[in-house]
Amino acid sequence: MVASAPGKAILIGEHAVVYGQPALIAAVGLRLTTRLTPASEDSSSTVELHARELGGRVTTDWPEIVDYATQARRRWEHYTRTPGAAGFAEVRGDDPAHLVKVALGEAARFLDEPGGPPLQLHLYSDLPIGAGFGSSAAVAVTVLAAYLTARGRRPSTRDLEALALETERRQHGMPSGVDGAAVIHGGVVWAEREGPGEPLSITPLDLTSPHLSRFRIFDTGTPAQTTGEVVAAVRGRVEADHGTFDPILERMGATARAFRRELAGDRDDPESLMDLIRTYQADLEALGVVPPAVRELIRRVEAAGGVAKISGAGALASPEGGDRPGAGSLLVYQPEPHRLDDLPFLEPFPHYAVPLGAQGYRVETPS
Ligand code: MEV
Repeated sequence: MVASAPGKAILIGEHAVVYGQPALIAAVGLRLTTRLTPASEDSSSTVELHARELGGRVTTDWPEIVDYATQARRRWEHYTRTPGAAGFAEVRGDDPAHLVKVALGEAARFLDEPGGPPLQLHLYSDLPIGAGFGSSAAVAVTVLAAYLTARGRRPSTRDLEALALETERRQHGMPSGVDGAAVIHGGVVWAEREGPGEPLSITPLDLTSPHLSRFRIFDTGTPAQTTGEVVAAVRGRVEADHGTFDPILERMGATARAFRRELAGDRDDPESLMDLIRTYQADLEALGVVPPAVRELIRRVEAAGGVAKISGAGALASPEGGDRPGAGSLLVYQPEPHRLDDLPFLEPFPHYAVPLGAQGYRVETPS
């Protein structure tokens, strides 16, 4: 059984979406693949996990996986009662196979089974890992979809969204669910909550705007903090000072709505779109998720006639001694995108001219 999923780029709405504001997210044409095959070992409960990102090969078994996922769920429930950076670090732990074990354990729970058959799981990724490209959502979705389909219970979209969100909670604490939604649906989606406490409502958009071909994605390097840590730090700031942050979050929501109108409408007005990106980026800076070196890079893009914003969680600070400023993916817009090719200060950063609006997750059953 093989499942693959695209990565994601948040066009606009990150962070504010955690507080009920809308977001616009595109699936990007770099994919992550999970392949499941029967295990080579003879033991009835062996599970072999293979992935460069897991440090090579990890051998475990179903009792360990189910116990791991149950303990992670308990730690997460405790964390939601007293959210704080230390509690979050405990939820995530430091097991490189954390996300895969949680996804398999949640799948077994969904099936109401105490374990599963012996298997080998291989992960391959074209996506940069842990850098705002949605790799953890893609891992969660592909592992869940491949395993459940292999067990004869291909999940509905709604079940897959719920299971992916549950899995992502052990990775990111209290995520909004937009990453999983983008990876599952593909294309470009609008995510909005109908009201406080309501689940995200996802609307696939059929956009043909010329703006979409003017975006480029650069990788500014893996952030020193995980998405969960950045989201937890923002939560701490917002809760400590509603007076400062509530109007910022409101404006971020209004900017996202105006951005959607620009992309959905007939007019092609790069200046208006650029204004909205600058406004949103300024608010991300006010939330404290754009380290100084990344702000400087964005100012240089602006001086060269473009605009840029972080896409994803960003970072609280650049990695110490790192060769890149480390805020994950950077979305750059330039009315004449070929002009970005000649900017020497962008040269150190891997650059993805990938199509926005790629196909969502896919399961292929070997014939
Ligand atoms: C991460 O890709 C996007 C954030 O808004 C977190 C979330 O929505 O869960 C920063």
